[in-house]
Amino acid sequence: MKKYIVLLVTLAVCGFGCESLGVKSQDAKLEKRVQGLLSKMTLQEKVGQMTQVTLQVVAGESENGWQKLDEKKLREAIVEHHVGSILNCAGQARTVDNWHEIITTIQDIATKETRLGIPVIYGIDAIHGVNYTLGATIFPQNIAMAATGNVELMQVSGEITAFEMRASGIPWNFGPVLGLAREPMWPRVFETFGEDAYIASVMGAAYIKGLQGDDISAPTKAASCMKHYLGYSVPRSGQDRTPAYIPERQLRQLFLKPFAAAVKAGTATAMVNSSEINGIPVHASSFLLIELLRRELGFRGFVVSDWNDINNLYTREMVAKDQRDAVRIAVMAGVDMSMVPYDYSFYEHLVDLVETGEVPVSRINEAVGDILRVKLQLGLFDEPYPNKHLKAAFASEASRKINLKAARQAITLLKNDKETLPLQRKQKVLVAGPAANKLSLLNSGWTITWQGENEDLYPQEKKTILEAIQDKAGASNVTYIEGVTFDEEVDIAAAVSAAQDADTIIACLGEPTYCETPGNIDDLTMSRPQLELIERLAGTGKPIVLVLVEGRPRVIRTIVDDVQAVLMAYLPGMEGGQAVADILFGDANPSGKLPFTYPRYASGYTCYDHKKSEETAPNKFDPQWQFGHGLSYTSFAYSDLQLDKTELSADETLTVTVTVSNSGKRPGGEIVQLYLSDIVASVTPAVRSLKRFTKVHLQPGQSKSVTFVLGWDDFSFIGLDNKPVVEPGEFKVTVSDLSESFVIR
Ligand code: BGC
Repeated sequence: MKKYIVLLVTLAVCGFGCESLGVKSQDAKLEKRVQGLLSKMTLQEKVGQMTQVTLQVVAGESENGWQKLDEKKLREAIVEHHVGSILNCAGQARTVDNWHEIITTIQDIATKETRLGIPVIYGIDAIHGVNYTLGATIFPQNIAMAATGNVELMQVSGEITAFEMRASGIPWNFGPVLGLAREPMWPRVFETFGEDAYIASVMGAAYIKGLQGDDISAPTKAASCMKHYLGYSVPRSGQDRTPAYIPERQLRQLFLKPFAAAVKAGTATAMVNSSEINGIPVHASSFLLIELLRRELGFRGFVVSDWNDINNLYTREMVAKDQRDAVRIAVMAGVDMSMVPYDYSFYEHLVDLVETGEVPVSRINEAVGDILRVKLQLGLFDEPYPNKHLKAAFASEASRKINLKAARQAITLLKNDKETLPLQRKQKVLVAGPAANKLSLLNSGWTITWQGENEDLYPQEKKTILEAIQDKAGASNVTYIEGVTFDEEVDIAAAVSAAQDADTIIACLGEPTYCETPGNIDDLTMSRPQLELIERLAGTGKPIVLVLVEGRPRVIRTIVDDVQAVLMAYLPGMEGGQAVADILFGDANPSGKLPFTYPRYASGYTCYDHKKSEETAPNKFDPQWQFGHGLSYTSFAYSDLQLDKTELSADETLTVTVTVSNSGKRPGGEIVQLYLSDIVASVTPAVRSLKRFTKVHLQPGQSKSVTFVLGWDDFSFIGLDNKPVVEPGEFKVTVSDLSESFVIR
């Protein structure tokens, strides 16, 4: 904060022309402090800063459902091993007060009982809100946030998350996840912004802006950690933490883009992909961590390993002959901090490696300098303790409303035959399916616990889908029969018989809770008992509304014709039950659009920005639903697509305007999407790529003119030499059902 005030004063005195001077003097001051500290530190103190352990290492016995800190163990970590960072929640979410106690004790020891008083940087996975603080505002998972098409909302979710983190005393967030979900089996699809590089870039940068603001030392801002750099999201096997094979051209064309945008947005830190690309574990790749990330993208923060992943170079990836060798390889490749997380092996090996000259002190200074810089930027040296004043506004009603808005805007109407939806309130409804009555399933992994499975710990005042439907239709009009679990039949016959008395069936299907490796699956197809539930309910002839509560697109081809409407809820978060019911009964108009291609078959996944050969007969591109698909209860008409030029040079900009009108009877939101096609190129071009989107809200009869400006970055692709290039020729701009062409000279 102080830093900010100094900057403002500088600007006021010398005008904006001096801005860069002001920033430079800030930088110089910061550097002086970093170097000053480094010059005083012993090797052990430096290596300690590079060491991160999990809370369990310093926690004692379980007491009243949570582990208290063990001060002896804490001193062993911070005083004896000079540990610079602690992470995670050791089991389950804690209250704000618990967190205050934990962070205060840690910082007391770090700042008062160590020689240099360097504060600890505490890190947490605040993946969709501060999911490890009880009662926090828990947003839809990122896949759903991407579906909102609402960049501003994404930024606000980052602001609220940072606020609630800081209210919990925690300054560092292991997010956003910037991998591209181009392998639907992967169990971390829901943590991403979907398959498109542009959406992930824009949403990721907005989130970072929300989290960090312009000054991360502000009391309500937090440091972000873009992850998992790079290429983690497309394991060839579909299983978590297994190899990806990505040609450099594709790496740059797609996977690097969101990370480049995050660096530009100023992300303070980065976390490394647990696995490997083209046979090289990313934790061992100086090309990816130094050449590409630091030299090319200009990243200036620090790089943290993922969980136990330095050790994994020895035990799993088999590129190191022992644990010590693994430490050497990772540190020399550019990893600055090790999420060890259970012991001091990293610390001991690294001290030894430096003493024997196998790792130069200069490399240690670089890493520790980067870590200290972020600690200083966060203002931890001035204020390491939780700010008690923030507690009053923790999880405010205003934040809840924004959360509800996000869930409503995310939910995507995929099918709506004969205007089955919205439903009339006065009718008899049968609610069925395993996802109807559990809050945990609306949230899944990274909620209260790692796997998010413990329903008993969820806030009882929040509504499941069933409870929210009962509120709308009246409890006496709603019958609930689960019918099946995810794995087996319970009582389909009872559901079928209850359906006879119902006007409409609402079937809520999806996935159990999971995240990371425990969420691996062998088949993308929706589980057999759930499919059977629909098949048998369809026999009753009653209209079926299918609500999908899932973190990745499970294949449902065989039942799509059996149902009249399909609502994709994704993992809509703590207000998700309410939002689903609001949409079912027309109190909200759906406006989400799919941020991924919804496959029809479980194999041969093809993304929307595929090559022409992938859709030229006899091959066909025929997904269940297209990327960017999403219906509304109103209708939108597009007209007047205009380009300001039809011929331009590569360094000129192109202004595109289009008029969008609400041609239906209800107010509604529409995500206007602009696609660009490069017709002929020396590297086979994608049939189309999303280049811009914006969300507009229109009253019935209202029109709006939307303007997009495209430039060199949009016209370019990664060429034969793996560098971006714009080639002259014809391009096509498509917005909805309209398209116009232009030529680059
Ligand atoms: C995950 C990371 C996470 C870390 C700390 C790892 O298993 O891959 O995304 O930040 O754990 O919880």
